[in-house]
Amino acid sequence: MHPSAPPIGDAGIRVDAVRLPAPARAVVWRAGRRAVDWSAGKLKLASYVPFYDYREQLDLHTTFREDGRRVRDKRPSTVDAADVDLTLTVEGLEDVLLGRDWTGKRVLEVGPKYGLHALWIDEQLQPSELVFSDFAADRHLHERWEGKLRAPHRWVYGDLRVARGLLEHEPFDVVFFLGVLYHSAFHLPLLAMLNRATRLDGDLLLETTIDPRPDAALRLRWQRGTGKAKAVPTLDALRIELAWTGWRDVTRFTDYRPGSSEVVLLCRKTDELPEDADLIDLVAPQRPPAEA
Ligand SMILES: C[S@@+](CC[C@H](N)C(=O)[O-])C[C@H]1O[C@@H](n2cnc3c(N)ncnc32)[C@H](O)[C@@H]1O
Repeated sequence: MHPSAPPIGDAGIRVDAVRLPAPARAVVWRAGRRAVDWSAGKLKLASYVPFYDYREQLDLHTTFREDGRRVRDKRPSTVDAADVDLTLTVEGLEDVLLGRDWTGKRVLEVGPKYGLHALWIDEQLQPSELVFSDFAADRHLHERWEGKLRAPHRWVYGDLRVARGLLEHEPFDVVFFLGVLYHSAFHLPLLAMLNRATRLDGDLLLETTIDPRPDAALRLRWQRGTGKAKAVPTLDALRIELAWTGWRDVTRFTDYRPGSSEVVLLCRKTDELPEDADLIDLVAPQRPPAEA
């Protein structure tokens, strides 16, 4: 039987009840697979057998919890009538952070754009310093709200991947990384930079789009019109990317816009990265150091 084959009976036939021997189950599974492939071809759909070979490592090295608390964000889309795109409502942000004392911390927000989260963070969390990472091209958007900030703040402009200005001061306690990851194809360097900028045990609140498939896959996009390179991970791929870059403790808030393709995750920094690598030591190097 194919190692990744799902239990037979998914099609509604109670195969377990009649206890077919393994070889017979394999025959049934292959026949089912051929039927699915044939129908998919006719319907111009694709079918594939998902691979779960990474699960042992995820189970061994990571923690993943689901938090079902109420999150006041049930919008069908993140874009409103005025064409303003906001990932998580500020009420939703409040719900997610309920029970956590994040006041007076050193805070980094990546991609603040319209400043809606930034102003909430400034007012509610009163950070000791609030630092923003964004592209300088969005400066005209930032100028509209920057004057309302009360916390000491500064900007580190340029692609987060190479925003070394984030590493020049004390590491951050808390990072807001909302609606940014899927815009880039460079997930590992981005998450690695956030790891370097954050203290051990510090928190990362992440919102991003995921692909609905069940296994660990990255959907690469070369966007029509803009020509931009983007990558959308499945939830398992995102968990692996986070684990590899030192975020091995993750909680998902399941009540955030259920049915949408976006997730909100709270991730804790569990590992420091080696000086010269974007992946933690638990990931075996491609070649042992002696052969490298
Ligand atoms: C869709 S907006 C998200 C705005 C807001 N954070 C929210 O949650 O709705 C994406 C923001 O991330 C910024 N951004 C995207 N890729 C980035 C990168 N590689 N480095 C720094 N900022 C980036 C964009 O300039 C923009 O401000």
